[in-house]
Amino acid sequence: MSSKKTATALVSAGRSKRYTQGSVNSVIQRASSLIFETVADKKQATLNRAKSGLFYGRRGTLTHFSFQDAMTELEGGAGCALYPCGAAAIANAILSFVSGGDHVLVTGSVYEPTQAFCDNVLSKFNVTTRYFDPLIGAGIADLIQENTKVVFLESPGSITMEVHDVPAIVSAVRRVNPDIVIIMDNTWAAGILFKALEFGIDISVQSGTKYIVGHSDAMLGTAVANARCWDQLREHSYLMGQMVDADTAYVASRGLRTLGVRLKQHQESSLRIAHWLAARPEVAVVNHPALPSCKGHAFYVRDFTGCNGLFSFVLKQKLSKEQLSDYLDNFAHFSMAYSWGGFESLILANQPEDLASIRPAGGVDFTGTLIRLHIGLEDCDDLIDDLTAGFNRIHKV
Ligand SMILES: Cc1ncc(COP(=O)(O)O)c(C=O)c1O
Repeated sequence: MSSKKTATALVSAGRSKRYTQGSVNSVIQRASSLIFETVADKKQATLNRAKSGLFYGRRGTLTHFSFQDAMTELEGGAGCALYPCGAAAIANAILSFVSGGDHVLVTGSVYEPTQAFCDNVLSKFNVTTRYFDPLIGAGIADLIQENTKVVFLESPGSITMEVHDVPAIVSAVRRVNPDIVIIMDNTWAAGILFKALEFGIDISVQSGTKYIVGHSDAMLGTAVANARCWDQLREHSYLMGQMVDADTAYVASRGLRTLGVRLKQHQESSLRIAHWLAARPEVAVVNHPALPSCKGHAFYVRDFTGCNGLFSFVLKQKLSKEQLSDYLDNFAHFSMAYSWGGFESLILANQPEDLASIRPAGGVDFTGTLIRLHIGLEDCDDLIDDLTAGFNRIHKV
């Protein structure tokens, strides 16, 4: 693990002379074929193909190696595998460690496509999934079976934002079976607000599409593994054809350079807006990990070094179709779109029954409409004015 402070590492990681060749940023090396001058060179490249040696485009080029080195340093792992999107990183990380007849444990607050992957794809290979309460803590030990190979976490959980007690989960799993691979979707923390590998997680997966790229203009997945899982993750992902193009690896590296300051602003603005929302009469609860009203808030305080712009809140009332359309269609600064982590503010709504229908255990413990916000880098006063106008529209209909 690097002794550099995170802000420094974000600026310097992956910028060795081999990758920058005299410029500040890494070179963009677009290549499928990489030419060997001699038979001896080809032999050497083959030997080094998994160790940042130039071999073939699918193993990466200098641009990829630079970004992979940076991610490995930032997350404190043995290596970083790249994927065309976060969903691919999740699927391939799990697939790399299961065989037919195995069992996986997955948090019930998981990103919906991860759940759908387990239910619709893993099931085809006779890999069964059991979902658990995100606040299960050490109780996870009771769910582990002989054939449990993977435990999959996501913290905070998608949409409802529950924060896991990761140390309790990790030590309980290790006590029952130290061979189980613990994978975490660490996208919310951008790999730096929660140091998953330092907490005993084997593989930290991210949708780099979010804060790393940071400008809503490219898709990427990353998986940083510890020494015990790296070789298997790398080789299985390679065999499943996982890689990104050099330009995406480059914009991801560039995103890292400003990630620290962007996150600071997302944090400042989201905290201000979350506290403002908590005082609004229309709001039942604010699910922001930094606020005591969020489930698992104490674990956030203990384990995370900061927050970002993504959180949700639940209204006291369930909005009618008309109210919801009027509310969502007329924001000036909040756009309606999937994803998050870019510079712009976003808004999405979930009715309780819609959310319940995609949660494996069914049911949710609230009856009002849930609103998920991504607080971007706009001026906070403008965003609060926009949200105020939104509440006024609800009262009007
Ligand atoms: C928590 C989380 N994980 C994974 C993903 C998937 O990432 P991608 O869209 O890059 O496939 C998303 C996307 O919204 C997400 O929110």
